[in-house]
Formats: sequence, structure tokens, C-alpha cells
Amino acid sequence: MTIREIQERILKLKEEKDFCILAHSYIKREVIEIADIVGDSFKLSRDVCGAKQKNILFCGVHFMAETAKMLNMDKHVYLSNRIAGCPMAEQMEPEMLLYMKKQEPDRAVVAYINTTAALKAHCDVCVTSSSAVQIVKKMQADKILFIPDCNLGAYVKKSVPEKDIKLVQGGCPIHASVTVEEVEAAKAAHPDALLLVHPECVPKVTERADYVGSTSGIINYAKKSDAKQFIIGTEYEIAETLQYECPDKEFFVLSKKLVCPNMKLTTLVDVLNVLEHPENAYEIEMSEEEAAASRKCIDEMLRLG
Ligand code: 13P
Ligand code: SF4
Repeated sequence: MTIREIQERILKLKEEKDFCILAHSYIKREVIEIADIVGDSFKLSRDVCGAKQKNILFCGVHFMAETAKMLNMDKHVYLSNRIAGCPMAEQMEPEMLLYMKKQEPDRAVVAYINTTAALKAHCDVCVTSSSAVQIVKKMQADKILFIPDCNLGAYVKKSVPEKDIKLVQGGCPIHASVTVEEVEAAKAAHPDALLLVHPECVPKVTERADYVGSTSGIINYAKKSDAKQFIIGTEYEIAETLQYECPDKEFFVLSKKLVCPNMKLTTLVDVLNVLEHPENAYEIEMSEEEAAASRKCIDEMLRLG
């Protein structure tokens, strides 16, 4: 079958079998094309709540499907590729967090959404990269423990200096791999381009950016800007998407390392297989108790965001 034929079969099956397909913006373009909802982590977790279909197929990584499940316990939620995980989400065990909470019980715990449901159950509020600064500003607590991304945490700390924010050592191995040397080389190669960077990059990189923002923040900034050239400091798919959508502008990838292998696992054939045989697909299982415990901090994020 050609890519177009697989896409047509998927579009037909998703109607017949009542599926809503969600895709994170880092997913391959041919998969994004068949999705009902595409976006960054915040948009996906907000919009999944409005899905009318009784089945949800998540094209992304495990913690995203888990979040969709805890918000939609009456639905079947599947992950397109069962081994697609996010290494950052698995960096911290609940026991480690419980130990830290015991050491400093007066700190409110803010968790990046890239965390497991088991860890979320012990946090006060979740944030995404697009909502982190706004939510931390709005929180009543002045003393905060921010987990697990120390780079996003450092960006929040700098943007909200009035709060006492403690960080832990963790982060995205893809974004954090970008070096200052790569920034200097990209700027030298494209001196007229604006540098747009994701806050999961290290502070030395974000400090040199013209704009720091989430996946959708970067997309919106580039689309609205009068500038004609941009160096994109987030997953490579975003530069590609922008190049398709803004043919009159030029987009350069900040580093060749900005490819998330986990997000790239999902193929059109994975999606087709789930729709053809949902009984063999990877379905997220969660008890009502687990969902209720971990949903509290997502509900708080949606309330404050
Ligand atoms: P956002 O979707 O919030 O920009 O986060 C990027 C990311 O790395 C998702 O795993
Ligand atoms: Fe995880 Fe980083 Fe990949 Fe996002 S880009 S899924 S944070 S490894």
C-alpha cells in the first residue's frame, strides 16, 4: 500500500470504529496528517477532554496516553506504539519524591507533565512548557519543588524570581544535548535569523535565544513574526512543519541531535494496526483510585492554566 492508501484506510476505519486520534507535534508528518487533534502537551491534555468518540488513540509517548486515560476513564485509550516512552518521565520514582517531601514538607510540588501517573499522584499541580510560568506565578505557595526538568525549572525560576524554587537534576536528553558551540555556529551560519528555543534546553542556550517557548509558542511566534529566517531550537519536526506552513520564510534546525527517537517510533502502520485490531493493541489500564489520585494535579493545571 502507498502512504496515501494507508492514510485513506485509517481515515475510514477511525470513523467506523469511533476513534479520536491525537498526535503530538513531534510525530512524523504523515501521521499528523490523519490526526483529529494535533498540538503540544498542553493543547492535547486540554482538548482530549472534549473528544466525543468512545476510543482514543494517542500518537505520542506513554505519559501522554496515561494523562488522556486519567481524564477519560469512560473511554478506551490506546498508545500507537507500545514502546514509545519518554526517558524524562521515568527519571524519578515516587519513593524519591516522597523522601524529598519529607525533608521539606512546606514546599508545594510542581510536576512537569512529562512524569508517570504514579509520580503525579504525589504532586500538587502539573505544568506543561507553555503553562509553567503562568501557573507557578498564580500558585498561592511561595516555596516550590519543581520536578523533574531542571532546565524548564531554571527557566521558570528566572521568570518568577519572587518565589523560592528548588530544582532536581533531570531533563530531556534531546533538548539538553544542544551546546553553546552549536548555538554560536548556527548564528554564524545564519546571522539574520532569530533563534527560537524550547525551555527544555540548558540555560546557556535559552539565554542566547530571541524567544523561549513551548512547541506551540515557537510555532505561533515564527508565524506572527515579520522576520524571514529562524533557527529552531526544538524537535526537528517543528522546523519541518513551519517550513511547510510558511513557504515564504526559512527555517534552520539548531542541532542535528534534535530528533526525539521516542516520538519517531510511531508509524502509519502502527496506527492502522490499532484500528484494525484494537484487541491486540496497547491499551492504557488504570484503576479508578489511581486515576483519581493522579488526576488532581492535572485538574489543578487546567484550572490555573
Ligand atoms: P511541549 O509539547 O509542552 O512543548 O513539550 C515538548 C516535549 O518535549 C514533549 O515531550
Ligand atoms: Fe521526552 Fe524529550 Fe522526547 Fe519530549 S522530546 S518525549 S521530553 S525525550
